[in-house]
Amino acid sequence: MQEILEQIVAKARTEFATLAGRAEFESAKARYVGPNGELTAQMKMMGGVPKEERPVVGKLINQAKVELQQLLDSAMARIEAAELQASLGPAIDPTLPSPDAGPGTYHPLTLVREELTRILRKVGFTVADGPEVETEYYCFDALNTPADHPARDAQDTFYLPKDARFGNVAKKTAQERYLLRTHTSSVQIRTMLKGEPPIRIVSPGRVYRRDTTDATHSANFQQLECLYVDRNVTVRDLKALLDYLFESLLGKDTKTRFRPHYFGYTEPSFEVDLSARHLPKVNKEWIEIGGCGMVDPTVFADVGYDPEVWSGYAFGMGIERLAMLLYGIDDIRYFYQNDLRFLKQFA
Ligand code: DAH
Repeated sequence: MQEILEQIVAKARTEFATLAGRAEFESAKARYVGPNGELTAQMKMMGGVPKEERPVVGKLINQAKVELQQLLDSAMARIEAAELQASLGPAIDPTLPSPDAGPGTYHPLTLVREELTRILRKVGFTVADGPEVETEYYCFDALNTPADHPARDAQDTFYLPKDARFGNVAKKTAQERYLLRTHTSSVQIRTMLKGEPPIRIVSPGRVYRRDTTDATHSANFQQLECLYVDRNVTVRDLKALLDYLFESLLGKDTKTRFRPHYFGYTEPSFEVDLSARHLPKVNKEWIEIGGCGMVDPTVFADVGYDPEVWSGYAFGMGIERLAMLLYGIDDIRYFYQNDLRFLKQFA
């Protein structure tokens, strides 16, 4: 009997060492200690053992039982460890740098855009939004820029295919084309058609032009548009607002200058220059920053406002150029390259 027991334990030792999972474990266990197991069969034979040999045989069986249990325990420990390993996945190296990108920071263009709208909110402007895909009507016609105007030249503008559909951008006439807006001035029209005067809005956003990229040009850049409509608005109000805006953003030493210009939607119209010699890397006395003027009566009539009653001013400017001035950046392309060495300087 001793020999048989030793064989059973030896067989179990090799078999249990290769058990691959709980199912294999259970059936192996049953083969040895289950009701029909090999060890159980030996125990059942105890009845036929002569009385005086029983203590010795009983001790041998018990010993085999203990050894089998130890083999089962270590097999189960191995299976559990393998299960845990599988659920944890491959080993990690805790000394590697964290993959967490951190909380991030604002882009310099966002900082300037937010600051400009904050300054304008303080004097009663609210933020208005408009679509980047526009129709010719809102971008040009309603702004008193007829079809033969140079600004509508297909060279300057990204037109969308004739059959392009934008369910959320309503057309004025069926045959007009969609285009990527060339300026934020279209939001003036959308706002006036939606509301009633008095109106005081600021509208920052992306605009698109077929420009060749260089240090000061980009086919996609951001503008900030303002429109004020009320009774008895004058050029003085416009100049005062621009002085306030630029002094707040760039400092008290900033000066603003108007140069006569032409825009279809304002009369008179001006280009706005800034003088800000106190800023780093500014080596010109006057820097052109945007356009402005008094809203043309034709525009008012077009949106159904009585030009005899209502007057107003409007202006639009490039946000990139202001940010470049403020931070002493000499190439517009830095804004779009996502280079952390650049972006981290504004954190
Ligand atoms: N839309 C003009 C541009 O993109 C800028 C501009 C000029 C905006 C005069 C205005 C304005 O609101 O009154 O160059």
